[in-house]
Amino acid sequence: MPSSTPQEPISVVILISGSGSNLQAIIDANQNGDCPVHIRAVISNRPGVKGLERAQLADIETAVVDHTQYEDRETFDQALINCIDHFQPDLVVLAGFMRILTSHFVEHYMGRMLNIHPALLPDFPGLNTHERALESGVEQHGASVHFVTTEVDGGPIVLQAAVPIKTDDTAKILANRVLQQEHLIYPLAIRWYAEERIHLKNNKVIFDQKELPATGLNYAEVQQKQ
Ligand code: GRF
Repeated sequence: MPSSTPQEPISVVILISGSGSNLQAIIDANQNGDCPVHIRAVISNRPGVKGLERAQLADIETAVVDHTQYEDRETFDQALINCIDHFQPDLVVLAGFMRILTSHFVEHYMGRMLNIHPALLPDFPGLNTHERALESGVEQHGASVHFVTTEVDGGPIVLQAAVPIKTDDTAKILANRVLQQEHLIYPLAIRWYAEERIHLKNNKVIFDQKELPATGLNYAEVQQKQ
């Protein structure tokens, strides 16, 4: 549960590794009032990536903790924890952050760390989700926002958005269709956390005091109810 006082927006630290299009969607939603949080910092494990430029353009503090400068995961993760905790976040947001985190790191932020994955979990955890979805012949694909636990891409799901797979789709075309949905569902899930509408309890997601099903909420249904 966020520790900020009721009138203060919660503090958020966003971790990235690359282009930062999800970061941009969160920044845009924050600026137009749809995602009322205080983005304290953007931290990248890779120097010189586009996501850092996006943050600087939005006057958000940035930092780099370069994983290639550390001998192992444990020392890198501890350095990352030190950098993140300097900003005292209520919520850590993984946005295109492409590192597998140690259980020590995950435990430290348990219940206050979200990730977005470009697939309809539990299908296609891991990498190359679009290629694998096309190869498998499934008719639908999409994206999932979930709480991060020690099971990589296996944490309790908050929200999913589905897209159709079309006959002439390439992985690139499908990735773009999914990314557009990512940019809609991630700011919304972060908003729900900021408004204390979602929290993690016994490895389940509670939304407005009700336990969500394993696949979380469906974005299309959420929109219909609005
Ligand atoms: C996104 O599909 C995200 O789900 C995945 O990496 C891709 C790029 O994200 N983890 P971004 O443009 O860097 O936000």
